[in-house]
Amino acid sequence: MEKQWWQNRTAYQIYPKSFLDTNGDGIGDIPGIIEKLDYLKDLGIGILWISPVYVSPCADQGYDIADYYGIDPKFGTMEDMDRLLAEAKKRDIAVLMDLVVNHTSDEHRWFAESRSSKDNPYRDYYIWRDPKDGKEPNNWTSYFSGPAWQYDEKTGQYYLHLFSKKQPDLNWENETVRREVYDMMKFWLGIGCDGFRMDVASLYSKTPGLPDGKGTTGLIGHEYYQNGPRIHEFLREMNREVLSHYDIMTVGEMSGVTIDEAIKYAGKKRRELNMVFQFDQDALDHDPDDKWGRRAVPLPELKKVFSDWQIRLEGKAWNSLYWTNHDQPRTVSRWGNDGRYRKESQKMLYTMLMTLQGTPYIYQGEEIGMTNSVFDGIEDFDDVEIHNCWKERVVEGHEDPEALLKAMRFRARDNARTPMQWDDSENAGFTTGKPWFALSDRYREINVKEALADKDSIFYYYKKLIEMRHQEPLLTEGSYELILAEEEHIFAYLRKTADECWLVAANLSEETIPAEILKSYAKGVQEVKIANYAERKDLTEALRPYEAFMMKIQ
Ligand code: GLC
Ligand code: CA
Repeated sequence: MEKQWWQNRTAYQIYPKSFLDTNGDGIGDIPGIIEKLDYLKDLGIGILWISPVYVSPCADQGYDIADYYGIDPKFGTMEDMDRLLAEAKKRDIAVLMDLVVNHTSDEHRWFAESRSSKDNPYRDYYIWRDPKDGKEPNNWTSYFSGPAWQYDEKTGQYYLHLFSKKQPDLNWENETVRREVYDMMKFWLGIGCDGFRMDVASLYSKTPGLPDGKGTTGLIGHEYYQNGPRIHEFLREMNREVLSHYDIMTVGEMSGVTIDEAIKYAGKKRRELNMVFQFDQDALDHDPDDKWGRRAVPLPELKKVFSDWQIRLEGKAWNSLYWTNHDQPRTVSRWGNDGRYRKESQKMLYTMLMTLQGTPYIYQGEEIGMTNSVFDGIEDFDDVEIHNCWKERVVEGHEDPEALLKAMRFRARDNARTPMQWDDSENAGFTTGKPWFALSDRYREINVKEALADKDSIFYYYKKLIEMRHQEPLLTEGSYELILAEEEHIFAYLRKTADECWLVAANLSEETIPAEILKSYAKGVQEVKIANYAERKDLTEALRPYEAFMMKIQ
């Protein structure tokens, strides 16, 4: 595969609202991102993905856009955006905008027109249907609880919304809609952005006729729009019309993607996208019958997911590597130990992630090991997903509130959305005003100032991992081979080129694991490349709790 500029860079996701506030209104802003570019450059970041900063009523935190061509005043101005792009360019940091075009806000001008009458030229920009037997046109449910349809009195029809009712789905069957999207993409590429993270890009194409879903619980109907019938055609058209004319990168968030589908979306010769975000590892600790429920994950299952993606995409498509984003809990609270072994386990998890083949994405705050926050009652949560579900299951459904709260505390997207912890002063240096959302109560212990002052911090460990990815082609190009597939504590694998072989081992448990387990590699050890315990020199000692290392063994 010809080398691409985005293959050995490391990406960083910014959730602007919670990153840094520079004008004291309690809301993070674009000038706040600019202020921290040197910090990100120091970490080694080469790509920024900026979650939406467009004009939005923020019913779903900016993933409900009312004007694709404008910056929301709470985040800054178009001049700020221009300055961000210029300052990032100076530092050789690429900037990806979040492209949210499965749906708009119901406050978008197109939707206001669309709902105004059945013969309005914008009517067909969205998906309107007549009631069926006085009810919703089909049985589809929304990702955010309840039916995926909202009745609109004015014209007596329903509109489709796979997310909240303030996020009507665009009608991708309509060519004019697609043109509008492509024009808007050209605008952003024209002012210098370097690509897009594409929100729920696997959902654009709905099966004609919108048939009833087969399921009876959970997300009903998804088989009729996840990787829908025309999705590859749409993406190839987008590529032909827009993407192929620029030196940019794209990563599609693909709800419901399989490896086979991913090879189509991101396949080298397919001319669609460069990478996908998949959800196989995310799915593992979910209770299959309840999206909030949690199940313990046997390590071999996690290894299998990572290994399948490594092996099956090799030479065909490029992986994206991530542990978390603004939609998932904090990594260390979910896959590691956010108490006694917080630093060790956070370093361990990223040793594993960043030594795989693919482009790694670090979500803001992960570089200092931020943890899940504390939400006592339902009123402490912000997310529309939580509140809709609470209304459906507790207020109207009379489910046990304590049990649901307990599950939500762990799983809530809000865990990732608390303000960034810059220092140990009041509000962690995030704002001089009143923060829009409560900070984690651990910010006096976990913050950037502390991390930068400690040579042994998670921050410096990531910096080293990122540097290694720049300097060692083996990490980008080397093949992957899983070893000890059935072992229940250790994730270990080899990365190989024609003349070198490196071993990565990560202990995902609190147990001490005898050295014997890796003894067949002990004689070959030539050099420890990185280790989260300074004591690690070779393979003669047992693996300590959450220990991880990478060694050159040949
Ligand atoms: C994506 C976003 C998420 C949003 C949803 C609807 O999954 O990451 O935050 O709620 O799409 O736009
Ligand atoms: Ca602000």
